[in-house]
Amino acid sequence: MFPHLKGFNLKQWIDENRNDWGQRRVIWQDSDFIAFVTRGPNRRKDYHINPGDEIFYQLEGELNLHYLGTDKKQEMAVLQAGDLFLLPNNVPHSPRRREGSWTFVVERIRKAEEWDRFIWICENCGNKLYETTVRFIRRARKSLLLVPYLIEMLW
Ligand SMILES: [Fe+2]
Repeated sequence: MFPHLKGFNLKQWIDENRNDWGQRRVIWQDSDFIAFVTRGPNRRKDYHINPGDEIFYQLEGELNLHYLGTDKKQEMAVLQAGDLFLLPNNVPHSPRRREGSWTFVVERIRKAEEWDRFIWICENCGNKLYETTVRFIRRARKSLLLVPYLIEMLW
């Protein structure tokens, strides 16, 4: 969206577009990173497993970042406006936002051989209920294509 080697004011861009934002807007993706701003409300129960690290910077409101810690224990990091958070690769996470929650996110562009996973768990016992594997393919240098893959398992 925005050319490299030229700064822009993130807050001003959000303010100018906040009434017609959609769920998320990409800032850059034709580099080693994809950077985007996403907002609430969302309603997701899935946990994303990214082969790369993710950086979250909470711009406005609150982010409830649910994740599975050691021994698949359900944990939650609460990010307030101004908080910065590094999520290590392969940690299952489920960012949940209410209205008024705005987050700047940076992820590494996936390598050709990398796959993302999404899992759904039972919130009572933590057992995995369902998993799907997805490949994010860099298409030309302008857009990413989400290709659902055939590996879908039901537990
Ligand atoms: Fe993620």
